[in-house]
Amino acid sequence: MSAHATPTPMIAHKSAPLKGEALVPGDKSISHRALIFGAMAVGATKITGLLEGQDVLDTARAMRAFGAEVTQHGQGAWSVRGVGVGGFSEPADVIDCGNSGTGVRLIMGAMATTPITATFTGDASLRKRPMGRVTDPLALFGTAAYGRTGGRLPMTVVGAKNAVGVRYALPVASAQVKSAVLLAGLAARGETVVIEREPTRDHSERMLLGFGAQLDVAKTGEGHVITLIGQPELKPQTVAVPRDPSSAAFPTCAALIVEGSDITVPGVSQNLTRNGLYITLVEMGADIEFMNPRSEGGEPVADLRVRFSGEMTGIEVPPERAPSMIDEYPILSIVAAFSTGKTVMRGVKELRVKESDRIDAMARGLEACGVRIEEDEDTLIVHGTGAGGVPGGARAAVHLDHRIAMSFLICGMAAKAPVSVDDASPIATSFPIFTPLMTALGATLRDDI
Ligand code: S3P
Repeated sequence: MSAHATPTPMIAHKSAPLKGEALVPGDKSISHRALIFGAMAVGATKITGLLEGQDVLDTARAMRAFGAEVTQHGQGAWSVRGVGVGGFSEPADVIDCGNSGTGVRLIMGAMATTPITATFTGDASLRKRPMGRVTDPLALFGTAAYGRTGGRLPMTVVGAKNAVGVRYALPVASAQVKSAVLLAGLAARGETVVIEREPTRDHSERMLLGFGAQLDVAKTGEGHVITLIGQPELKPQTVAVPRDPSSAAFPTCAALIVEGSDITVPGVSQNLTRNGLYITLVEMGADIEFMNPRSEGGEPVADLRVRFSGEMTGIEVPPERAPSMIDEYPILSIVAAFSTGKTVMRGVKELRVKESDRIDAMARGLEACGVRIEEDEDTLIVHGTGAGGVPGGARAAVHLDHRIAMSFLICGMAAKAPVSVDDASPIATSFPIFTPLMTALGATLRDDI
């Protein structure tokens, strides 16, 4: 079931030095895709290292509702017996995607060119998020969508019959929109072409190739032109999900700001469409060693050794880097608060339509912790207080957003006074072992009544 849990406040106290190894769970983006592509293949796909966070469990449940056989065999070990491209059956009930924008948008794409009808909903956060960015391009295939005002969930999607491929230039840098159009292109006849000006995470393209689709990516003056040939027979795969660089960001940043820390974070993706945070941290003066570069589950990875870095300085983050670190701005703004000088994050208005309005959530929480902030629609500027300098002593509102909750708990590990969050339960959507993992490294996290 989706996470409509009762709010669980949690508090983080100033931490002893963090030590040891942080083995973060599987990548959320790749986990959703492994289940969805597996459900569209003919035969049994085997998955290891699947993230068993609530978002991904909701996608597994949805794939069952569309007719795939999804089975858990052990921790992170799953199989999906797919029904083939165009083979989805009509779900008997509403599809509840919980907190997951990726889940609902990709699944809408995957069913959009099969002549069935499905109604989607989600939690209070997901019901506020715009779906028009996906249903607009799906309409080009002949798919109809009826939602609430502003293209909000609940929404009923009526799949197109005899769809033909489309050509679509993305108006926003969004891997979810790109992936939804490519997934819809699978059951359409002929070519579907998606053009993206700025490269976004490329897991769908990599996985489509892995499952045997015919796909070409050309780098042109317009940007990346991705061409998919419709109606392939997808072949089942063995997918080894690598660890999630967006989850790895939390122990990494905690170690950078908690005095005396020295940890390793194995298997962090170096995929150029995901590693913007790590480049930014190094530019700020973070002490991170990238060891043992190799390939895991088709992704370039390295083991990170991360030590406390007391002399980090704020920088201007290049706006064109935003797509490669879009989920990492909340935790970057915590690191910025413990650095010297100001960190300027421009071109980040997409943060306003994530699980929460992340610019607002970070600005209000950091201000409550005694940090000076400037913001406008597309910008967040954090005025650093230097190592150990954040006063803290506040409670941040999380707004059903896992990354806001984890960011402020990490803030509390290094601030002068403890920091609490009004609800830590959303952390289970992406990083269910966050509390035991951080506690094992040395952090002091407690339920806060
Ligand atoms: C994701 C794409 C990004 C990201 C999200 C995961 C994906 O969203 O924020 O957490 O798996 O495709 P957008 O496509 O909205 O930028």
